[in-house]
Amino acid sequence: MGEFDGLAAVVTGGGSGIGLATARFLAARGAKVACFDLKVDGLDPGLVGVVGDVTDDAAVRAGIDSAAEQLGGIDIVVNNAGIGAAGTVADNPDADWHRVLDVNVVGMVRVSRAALPYLRASGHAAIVNTCSIAATAGLPNRALYSASKGAVLSLTLAMAADHLHEGIRVNCVTPGTADTPWVRRLLSAADDPDAELAALKSRQPSGRLVSADEVAAAIGFLASPLASATTGTALDVDGGMHGL
Ligand code: NAI
Repeated sequence: MGEFDGLAAVVTGGGSGIGLATARFLAARGAKVACFDLKVDGLDPGLVGVVGDVTDDAAVRAGIDSAAEQLGGIDIVVNNAGIGAAGTVADNPDADWHRVLDVNVVGMVRVSRAALPYLRASGHAAIVNTCSIAATAGLPNRALYSASKGAVLSLTLAMAADHLHEGIRVNCVTPGTADTPWVRRLLSAADDPDAELAALKSRQPSGRLVSADEVAAAIGFLASPLASATTGTALDVDGGMHGL
């Protein structure tokens, strides 16, 4: 018996990092899970792969319908696909702004819009958006990324209000720096990866990076019937960065 027995979930960005850890967390506790990602090679047996780009509305609609058909409906959507961008407002041209907002914000809108008919029919519906501590922390050299995640936070609150009476809870997690392939890519591109890793760790009072599994567990709680009274919240998973 698991918390997610009988429930079906779609996880965007489910091919890597936090998304893959979330897919595994949900599947290990009884959910049927589809991972929607640009690439879904080598997924664990039992996870359904759906290839698609969250910036392509037709692909999102087709992917959500395909996931619902293969899973027998959709009860949980984890809007997790996201990309980063370094820079101040002096650095990023308009094209960067359009691209990152299209993936990180409008991507969540497209996926949620396509999934709403299934969620309305669920009876246990939940959406969890992957936000970031960048939404509220004022991080240097992350203007565009922070703005995108600020929009995710506001979108989460607005959607929670809009869909409360349709029986759909909407929450987000706000991870600190998490040890994922994304962060490993950033570190390997740094001039001094060890110094960069030490700086990222020291930013969090816990003195370490968050693991993808720790973020997945928070997403799993918000997605689960255990959180039945929780909607319109942001759950920090940041080693104390926000609260301390
Ligand atoms: P990751 O790069 O390991 O995984 C992201 C996944 O999203 C990849 O599999 C990628 O193919 C997919 N993806 C990217 N663009 C897509 C698109 N247009 N359509 C479909 N899929 C797409 O990254 P990670 O670290 O697991 O990040 C996941 C989420 O967590 C992102 O939204 C990120 O902003 C957020 N986050 C990450 C933190 C970190 O320190 N790693 C901290 C706070 C938030």
